[in-house]
Amino acid sequence: MLSANDVIDQLQALRSKQPVKYTAFYSSQLGGIVTDPALMVIPFDDHMVHRGHGIFDTAGIVDGKIYDLEAHLDRFLRSAQRSKLKLPGSLEQMRDIIVRTTAASGRRDGSIRYWLSSGPGSLDLMPAAGAEPGFFVMIFPGLVYPETFRTQGVRVMTTTYPIKPPLYAITKTTNYLPNVLMQMEAKEAGFDNGVFIDHDGHVGESSNMNVAFVSKDDVLMHPKFDHILSGCTSLRLIELAQKLVAHGLLKDVAVAHVTRDAALAAKEMLLIGSSVRVAGIVRWDAHTIGSGKPGPVAAALLQLLEEDMRSGDRLTDVPY
Ligand SMILES: Cc1ncc(COP(=O)(O)O)c(C=O)c1O
Repeated sequence: MLSANDVIDQLQALRSKQPVKYTAFYSSQLGGIVTDPALMVIPFDDHMVHRGHGIFDTAGIVDGKIYDLEAHLDRFLRSAQRSKLKLPGSLEQMRDIIVRTTAASGRRDGSIRYWLSSGPGSLDLMPAAGAEPGFFVMIFPGLVYPETFRTQGVRVMTTTYPIKPPLYAITKTTNYLPNVLMQMEAKEAGFDNGVFIDHDGHVGESSNMNVAFVSKDDVLMHPKFDHILSGCTSLRLIELAQKLVAHGLLKDVAVAHVTRDAALAAKEMLLIGSSVRVAGIVRWDAHTIGSGKPGPVAAALLQLLEEDMRSGDRLTDVPY
């Protein structure tokens, strides 16, 4: 039998065995922010833990500002509504908690991940009677990808795992089992990541990133968002890419179903997301994409995105 102090000691021992770089965590259940990773905990009977009844989103911190927070919060609200999750407060209150947790972390570059759960109180299928929604915010360094993603490009495989049905793919729930299995399968087969293809043969998305293509006639083609997550980065780049149309690097930008065959014939294939930003895909299964090197549109889109992250009009100040 353990005392409360023994539990704290054990949680700290766990963290010292496996150090993590989580610099601040807010929990509505704790009623505030903690900075000791050992205390960044959630009750086991929270519906998000044992039934996967929770949603999340992730926004980036760039040079001490939060990038595109409103788009990420909008998607969070849509995910909450589809998952029948109650909000813990107003949008303004959630935004304020996110900003204040970021400030408490002191981190000026990294990621903010935040979750909404339907709360603890039973092990039932239905949320427990009287369960209060849980809101959690974690500040961490962000996902890190090898430098070769930029210099040499990324290799992907068509996953053997079925794509999520549209309702679950467009909702950012904590049910990422297909995404996890796809990534593990790809690594085991010597690739960097996987790509879902839908039941009609249309290209879907990768594990935690969208994919897009530059067709032979220089059109930036992005799969429709009705069967994949509406990536905030993709949506922003679809707007910013108009600058490349104006400069003649692209002829047009289109959001449409993309068949695997059309995709394989592309000049460039791109991975897009808050964590990877923009990376060129150079190999898909046994096929070489384009020249086999990251292409000019990937580089130009990355530059546009990074400019937008540093000096665009989608930055939220953090009162460090
Ligand atoms: C399944 C999936 N697709 C696409 C994305 C890209 O979305 P974003 O650009 O908002 O990071 C993510 C990341 O959140 C994801 O998890």
